[in-house]
Amino acid sequence: MSRLVVVSNRISIPDDKKTGAGGLTVGVLGALKAAGGLWFGWSGDIGDPDAPLKTTHRGNIHWASFQLSEQDYQQYYCEFSNAVLWPAFHYRLDLVKYDRQSWEGYSRVNARLAEQLLPLLEPDDILWIHDYHLLPFASELRKRGVQNRIGFFLHIPFPAPDIFTALPPFATLLDQLCDYDLLGFQTEGDRQSFLDTLNGQTTLYSPAAGSHQAYGKTFRTAVYPIGISPGEIARQAAGPLPAKLAQLKAELARVKNIFSVERLDYSKGLPERFAAFESLLEKYPEHHGQIRYTQIAPTSRGDVQAYQDIRHQLETEAGRINGKYGQLGWTPLYYLNQHFDRKLLMKVFRYADVGLVTPLRDGMNLVAKEYLAAQDPANPGVLILSRFAGAAQELGSALLVNPYDRDEMALAMHKALKMPLAERIARHSEAMEVLLKNDIDHWQKRFIADLRGLEPGVAKPGMGNKVAPFPRRA
Ligand code: G6P
Repeated sequence: MSRLVVVSNRISIPDDKKTGAGGLTVGVLGALKAAGGLWFGWSGDIGDPDAPLKTTHRGNIHWASFQLSEQDYQQYYCEFSNAVLWPAFHYRLDLVKYDRQSWEGYSRVNARLAEQLLPLLEPDDILWIHDYHLLPFASELRKRGVQNRIGFFLHIPFPAPDIFTALPPFATLLDQLCDYDLLGFQTEGDRQSFLDTLNGQTTLYSPAAGSHQAYGKTFRTAVYPIGISPGEIARQAAGPLPAKLAQLKAELARVKNIFSVERLDYSKGLPERFAAFESLLEKYPEHHGQIRYTQIAPTSRGDVQAYQDIRHQLETEAGRINGKYGQLGWTPLYYLNQHFDRKLLMKVFRYADVGLVTPLRDGMNLVAKEYLAAQDPANPGVLILSRFAGAAQELGSALLVNPYDRDEMALAMHKALKMPLAERIARHSEAMEVLLKNDIDHWQKRFIADLRGLEPGVAKPGMGNKVAPFPRRA
């Protein structure tokens, strides 16, 4: 079986505390273990970009990581990836900070990474590239003569055509994306937005479902909603809270708990959620003294201005709400701008009567799935989920809300806090069926099988990936 090469900006290197193990790691490692191969990505260090790659291996898996120069870190990571693509793909054109240097930096880093990976590639390797940092990566490899099968998975939403085409280099990006053999999306809506955007810009010919030609290149598209490891999460969640948290356990047991955790990011809808919680306190005073909302939101991408702004906004709001509604001996809102160990979080999820996951836009949102998997099936909590998270496509049994509607969210919280056991069990077991069927292993296996299923050299025949002329759109 041909080897698998995975490329992602973040990489999970064994024993490296900086590169924590989230849901994606489980999937990627599963795929790598099955075929043997290489994971190539950023070490998280700023240093000499031309320094030799740091390598390590365990069994049949190799890791190779690179450093970014300070300028690369700014232009490729902070600016173009996280102050242009991230906000635009999450429908926040107002937060886009574009300039040509950042686009040049993004392109330069993608080209250099392709150059660095080249000598590590074997002719029949299959390549799996992840996320918005690496949109031009296949194109850079193709320019260097690489004809291997290359798949791409976009973890975040693909925006509607009017948003995507507002990005100054959109035409180049679209053309570059078509150099992948297989493009995977979280939802059908994302896949359709990509195809609609292409269709508006060039002649898109789709001879069969999921098969396309554009810019003289042939590629496939498909939907692969990312999953979790429900069994592993259930095991982590079921264990007791560490003894040193005995006091927390006693506190959690005294009230009904509403719980949320995510990176501190404007796409997560945190100010809107705080406002909804305020609405709950205002409209349903019966909950005063009886509930506690804990929001964990560790700082993320703290060198990007928009992330500093949202942090200040939340600190102010949390203080204001507690000042207004708190009582001696009762604090309604706990806002913790800190990182917590993932396994501990799974245990805390189990104490949460309500899981609040209300992003304004989200590719999938694995926290929603993890919250469900962490519940006690005999006495589960209730998930309140934004309609604009990819997970809402699969989790129709959650209480679905519009995160822009604070009153609807307050009502959902009220309903969740009051929901009878039988309804909680029914909603939870319906969701678990979906999560067990489409777990993280299933996700990676489907993608890899589809990528392997493409005949080498058929999807991208010849150098330059030119295909025979195809019928023009009427
Ligand atoms: C999202 C993205 C990932 C990214 C992660 C953490 O989930 O889809 O590609 O790695 O956020 O963000 P960071 O900027 O810290 O890598």
